[in-house]
Order: sequence, then structure tokens, then C-alpha cells
Amino acid sequence: MTMQIAFTTELGTLYQGDCLDVLASMADESVDLVFADPPFNLGKDYGHGIDDLLDEDHYLAWCEKWINECARVLKPGGAFYLYNIPKWNIPLGGFMNATGLMFRHWIALDIKLSLPIQKKLYPSHYSLLYYTKGKPKFFERPRLPIQVCRHCGGDVKDYGGHRNKLHPDGINLSDVWTDIPPVRHRSTKVRGANALSEKLLERVLTISSEPGDVVFDPFGGSGTTFAVAERMHRHWSGSEIGDVEPIRRRLAGEAALDVMPGLGDAAKGVKAS
Ligand SMILES: C[S@@+](CC[C@H](N)C(=O)[O-])C[C@H]1O[C@@H](n2cnc3c(N)ncnc32)[C@H](O)[C@@H]1O
Repeated sequence: MTMQIAFTTELGTLYQGDCLDVLASMADESVDLVFADPPFNLGKDYGHGIDDLLDEDHYLAWCEKWINECARVLKPGGAFYLYNIPKWNIPLGGFMNATGLMFRHWIALDIKLSLPIQKKLYPSHYSLLYYTKGKPKFFERPRLPIQVCRHCGGDVKDYGGHRNKLHPDGINLSDVWTDIPPVRHRSTKVRGANALSEKLLERVLTISSEPGDVVFDPFGGSGTTFAVAERMHRHWSGSEIGDVEPIRRRLAGEAALDVMPGLGDAAKGVKAS
């Protein structure tokens, strides 16, 4: 077993090592929320000997292992979110079903900036699977502000004539999220490879966790989950097999040392299928 504590904070612990080793060391039913954003098997260079272009059976068998483990460590009523391209989340959802977790939603995250692909529809969403272990013990449905035209200030939709019946705090969040920005500009993408938007993690943690809950992320990356957990007063733990220095720096509020591209995975996934 090759894993070690990389660092701790008052709220969390990051392990450097393989998530399967870290998960094996964790007790049954010990976390309230799992958020997993694994490599998408699109041949990305993660820079430390990870093969991100496995044959499909191999990739799926690996995913099944950590999905089973994540389901095991989840508390009853806890939530498990899995972010991937649609091509993979179809079979990965099957693995989640097989663990006995309860399907709640396939959330479509609208992506911008992918390129049209010949003889294919324009790929325009990532998939975020949302499961719970039995009935959710916590669920808060956020409301989004009623969309207005930025030029004229009028409503963007007509709400079928029921505008006056809308809740003053906004519209119920649906399972299509169009307001999550990609982390793409050099000025904002200061956090290394594949960083997700903090807004995405804020939303997930808002829907399915309370302050003091324990959040686990097996694929730390640049540490988005941990940074948001810290800000929202959740306990957290996680693993990263590669360089953990970007995560340490981010949580310590130090400037990032590098930025990496890594955009358009959903598009690539569709292309490769
Ligand atoms: C898509 S990135 C996660 C990005 C992260 N959500 C963020 O916002 O920064 C996947 C990460 O998983 C890591 N990884 C790959 N295989 C792993 C394994 N077996 N155990 C732990 N981490 C792994 C990669 O090094 C990479 O940093």
C-alpha cells in the first residue's frame, strides 16, 4: 500500500496515493458526501505515470472498484456525485445501481466552447450523476434568480403566462445546469489541471451537505472540492496520486505555480466514441 498523509488542516486530510488504497483504509459508512471527478480516459497527460488511455474494459473495471468502495464508505442517506462524460456515465451509473445506491438525477452541465464534430451532434454537456444511499438525509433545492435580458431588463422566458405565480426568491433548480462556468481563462484558471468551477462544488455541497458533514473526493486534482469544503465549513478528506503541491498551495492561499489547459473533454469523449 503506497499512501501517505500529504497535509492536514483543521477540517481535512489529504492523502497522496492511490484512491483505492486510501478507500481501503476508510471505515464503512464514514462520509456524508462523495464527489468524484475521475480521469475520463481520454489520453490526458497527468504527468506522473498514469495511463489515461486504457482499453475500455480495463477503465470500466477500475471505475467499478472505486465506485464500490465509495458506496461502502458512504453513510446511510449520504450523497454520491460522479462527474464524467456521458459515454462513461452510462456504464458507471450501472455500477452505482448495482451497489444498491438510489438514483436521484442525471444532471446535464451545459458546456461551452467545444467544437462541432463531423457527423455528430454538437456535444454540449457533461454528466453529473447524483445518487444517495437510501432516502437522502439532507436535501436543499437551491433557487436561481429569474433570468432577465441584460439589454432590456425584461424576462427571458414567458413562463407560460404564470409569471405572477413564480416564487419571489427565484426558479427551482432543474437537472440542467447552464450557469456553471468552465475554468478556462488564464486569469481565472490559476489552479492547475482540470480544475472544476468552485460554483459547481458550492452547489453540490449546498444541495447535499450541512456544515460539519464529511466530504470525500478520491481524485483531488487541484483541490476544488477541498477548497470549497473549507469555505463552507465541511470536514473533508481526499486523495491525489500525483503532485499534491498545487492543492497544498491553494488551501494555504499561496499563488499557483502553473496552469494547464485540459478543456473540451466532453467534446473529445464524443469524438472518441
Ligand atoms: C479530472 S482530475 C480532478 C480535478 C478536480 N476535480 C479539480 O477540480 O481540480 C482527476 C485527478 O485524479 C488523479 N488521479 C488519477 N488516478 C488516481 C488514483 N488512482 N488515485 C488518486 N488520484 C488519481 C489525477 O492525477 C488527477 O489529478
